[in-house]
Amino acid sequence: MSLNAVAPMTTGEIQRRVSELGEWFHNLNLGGVQTAPNHFLGDYPSCKWRRFQPSIPTDLRGKTVLDIGCNGGFYSMEMKRRGADRVVSIDSDPDYLEQARFAAQVNGCEIEFQQLDVYEVATLREKFDLVLFMGVLYHLRHPLLALDLLNEHVVRDQLVFQSLQRGASIVEPLRENYPFAETAIFNREGYPVMHFVERRYANDPTNWWIPNRACVEAMLRSSGFEIVDHPEEDVYICRRRGMHG
Ligand SMILES: C[S@@+](CC[C@H](N)C(=O)[O-])C[C@H]1O[C@@H](n2cnc3c(N)ncnc32)[C@H](O)[C@@H]1O
Repeated sequence: MSLNAVAPMTTGEIQRRVSELGEWFHNLNLGGVQTAPNHFLGDYPSCKWRRFQPSIPTDLRGKTVLDIGCNGGFYSMEMKRRGADRVVSIDSDPDYLEQARFAAQVNGCEIEFQQLDVYEVATLREKFDLVLFMGVLYHLRHPLLALDLLNEHVVRDQLVFQSLQRGASIVEPLRENYPFAETAIFNREGYPVMHFVERRYANDPTNWWIPNRACVEAMLRSSGFEIVDHPEEDVYICRRRGMHG
């Protein structure tokens, strides 16, 4: 972490800027000012991070990190705190990026922000040691395409993945193939299922696809990732295996 050459702001100035930057999804502590103290998930994402952080290397010195859908920058800043050489953080939403830029400035974190859609990651022309792809998949109309693009263009080694999940959380072993006459398998709880949201879920028009756990795991494998750890109900630590490998 390196300190930016910016005069420290007073609590009042931080509070005013936090309000100007609109509604925050990440509850950050910026010089004593909470950005989303009434978050519906509690102290989010700190409460989630505490549960899976032991599965991320504590020393990221010499490593590069890409945070996709960085939002207010919580995870980007945590990666910087762990010593990552470079953190590149992208989001398709300029308002969230503005929040993240401000948070990084207040916390003295040097992070490279870029407005970029996950479908455009190839334009970064770089592979990263660690890629965070958290809370984005279910906001996409083409989720498998995004995972394929990550595998092909930006993940060198590790992927940290998180998705909203609904439906059964059991995973059953599947056979390599089923005959056309087999229909019962599709009704089994452990079969991979992706729920399509044509209208709304949680009042968010960008929620499109919500997988069950078996589906998340199958999609990650199908896109060339090996799941090496599952520290949290909906968080998966993966290694790149190569495309459709
Ligand atoms: C639920 S938030 C997750 C934020 C953060 N990654 C986390 O896990 O707390 C989803 C974020 O993904 C961003 N996002 C949604 N669709 C995207 C896309 N197609 N490309 C890049 N970012 C996207 C949103 O703007 C938002 O900041």
